[in-house]
Order: sequence, then C-alpha cells, then structure tokens
Amino acid sequence: MRFFGSGASRQSTYSIEALRGRARERLPRAVFDFFDGGAEDERALTANRNAFGRHQLVPYVLRDVSEVSLAANILGTPSSLPLAVGPTGAAGFGWHKGDIAIARAAAGAGIPYGLSTSATASIEEIAEAIPQGRRWFQAYILKNRHFTEKLIARAQAAGFEALMITVDLPVGGKRERDYRNDFSIPFKFTCRNFLDFALHPRWSLPMFFRGVPRMPNLIGIDAATTDTKALASSVGRNYDPSFDWDDLRRVRDLWDGKLIVKGVMRVSDAERAAGLGCDAIVISNHGGRQLDAGLAPLAALPTIARAVGGEVEIMVDGGIRRGADIVVALALGAKAVLIGRPTLYGMCAGGEVGAMLALDILQDEFRRTMQLCGLTSVSQINSDIFKTD
Ligand code: FNR
Repeated sequence: MRFFGSGASRQSTYSIEALRGRARERLPRAVFDFFDGGAEDERALTANRNAFGRHQLVPYVLRDVSEVSLAANILGTPSSLPLAVGPTGAAGFGWHKGDIAIARAAAGAGIPYGLSTSATASIEEIAEAIPQGRRWFQAYILKNRHFTEKLIARAQAAGFEALMITVDLPVGGKRERDYRNDFSIPFKFTCRNFLDFALHPRWSLPMFFRGVPRMPNLIGIDAATTDTKALASSVGRNYDPSFDWDDLRRVRDLWDGKLIVKGVMRVSDAERAAGLGCDAIVISNHGGRQLDAGLAPLAALPTIARAVGGEVEIMVDGGIRRGADIVVALALGAKAVLIGRPTLYGMCAGGEVGAMLALDILQDEFRRTMQLCGLTSVSQINSDIFKTD
C-alpha cells in the first residue's frame, strides 16, 4: 500500500467512501456535487450501488490462498487487474491536471485508462503523459461529424489502443444538483457559489492562480467558439441525437483498433453491437447521470453475458466501490469492470497520489475478497461462488 499524506490521514482514507469524504471536504459544494451527483431523483445512482448488495458470496474454506493472482486479460492484452478507469470529463475542475493524475495512476497500476472527449487534457497530452500505458479514447458523437472524425484520427495517430463510443447520451441528463448549486461550465459567478468557492481556499486558490481548466479536445468545435472556456457548455448542444446503428458501422470502418460501445443495456442491442464487429461492450447507465428511471447495469449483466458473452467482451460499470464488487461482477459474467467516481474522489482529495490510493484500496479489497472466498485466480471466479452447492 502506498501512503497518502501523514500516517493519520492514511488511516482515515481506508475506503472509497472515506476518500469521497476527503474530496467533499476539499471541494466547493458545487464542484463536489458535479462529480458525485446523478440525474433527477438519483434513483439510478442509488440502484447501481444497491444492486451489489443483492449478491452474497459463499466462500470455499481450507484452500491454500497464500498466493493469489489478480491478473486478467482485457481486449486480448494482459492487465494487472480485471479493472479499467472509465472516461470522466472535466476532471481538471477537481485538481490541477486531474486527468493526467488519473491517467498516471492507472498506468502505474497496470490497467487501461479511458480519456473522455470532454476531458481537460488533450489526446496528445495523455499520450505523452503515459506513453507505455494502455489508452482508450472515448468519443461522443457530435453534430459536427467532421470534427468527431478528426478526433478519432488524432487518437489513432497518438497510438490509442481502443476507441470507446458512448451511446447513452443522445441528450444530456438532467442533473439537478447542478441546477441547485448554480453550477455550470464555464463557471458563472453567483452570490451563492462565490461564497462556496471562497470558503474552500484549498480548491479555489490553485484554481485562481492556475486558471480555469479548458477542454482542449473540443477547441474549434464551433467555428464561432474561440473561447475554450465556453466550450463545455456548448458540448451538450453539439451532441448528435440522430446517431444510429448505421453511423456506428461507419465508425467501425473508420477505426483500425479495438472498438468498445459503452452504455448498452439490452440483449438485442448487445447482439447488434457484436454483429457489427465491436470488440467489447460496457453495460452502463453512465453512473446514474443520464436515464434516472433506468435499470442498474449489474441487473442487466447476467442475461447479456449469457446471450453474447461468447461473441463480444463484456464489461460493466456503475456503483463499484469495493473490491468485492469486482468479484460479484465477474461472477455474473463480466470480463472486467470500469470505475468512474472512485478515482475521481481520490484525485479530488489528493491528485495523483489520491487516485493511486483509490486503485490501491480496490486492489487490496479485491485480493482480500478472493482469499476470503478461497479463490486464487481470476479465472476461478464464476457463478458457483453464489451457491451453497
Ligand atoms: C462520467 N462518465 C462519463 N462517461 C463517458 O462515457 N464520457 C464522459 O465524459 C463521462 N464523464 C463523466 C463525468 C463524471 C463526473 C462522472 C461521475 C461520470 C461516466 C463514467 O464513465 C462511468 O460510466 C460511471 O462513472 C461509472 O459509475 P461510477 O463508477 O461512477 O459509479
């Protein structure tokens, strides 16, 4: 385990929930809520987490678990864990160069890192920051198709291994915490949030001196938009709700590497993605930030895995906060899991060290859970772990 600040603070950050608490202390309310929140009544956000509580593990005892391998294979390449960091936009609002902090933590842990279109680091900056790391580029399909194609070409030129197309965001979700907090990107200063920022100098002073983060991948999206600070708000406007299966086929033809479709929730859509030659799908509801009345991804996983697990690699995300959650997801048929908020919380609490700590916590809990279950390799995880024989 690597250490986080003093011994005392390391002691108090023993779980992802504890890291979330540290992030909450450091960030203004509006910024914390942007990362932490979900859509509308946050039913999907709650459902994602609760879905894990419905599965209990039945351990095997008296097996030699002194040596455990956590190694996995994701998209045909070895990974030190069956885990990848999912794309999360706007990370730089949590910590100066927050995306690079998370990317380095992921590369250091030997797992893939997903870069969002709306990240605060460019495709090329990430390629430079983690030249040996596994890099996936997540593309939103924008109305300006030519712009999207150029982004995809840049990712290809920068040596990204996989292209991830997020399909659960034809329009933006209604995130009501942002409404309540007057939060928008770019910031609009109102009396309420000004006080919020002023009361959190550990966040606002670096922000003040280093400047408001930008979204470099989106520079030039609007011919009229030259102010990069104004871009984030224009992204929602620029999503293309007409993007469909024919368009996805064109993307498949365009991209030479591995193609991942993120946000699939139905068997029929998973079959269609597999039929188009996609290499992997991520069963996901965008961390509960989009369709609030939607099903938890974990609940959709077993049927999708049974139907297409042999044809396409299945990943899942949403609500993973414990190492045991990784065991549950794999036992239900996932090849790997993605996380969003855990590394965001870590980064918001302590930059790269905090993001590393989030990954350390999950790795430690995953190993411990395997040992407590009597399992010594990832390939031994299957649905038998839910049965008493
Ligand atoms: C996201 N997510 C996301 N997904 C995506 O495809 N592109 C993006 O730009 C973003 N941005 C983003 C920002 C923030 C603040 C969050 C919390 C999430 C969704 C993300 O990739 C992932 O699907 C969820 O975060 C997984 O749920 P957990 O692990 O956060 O519960």
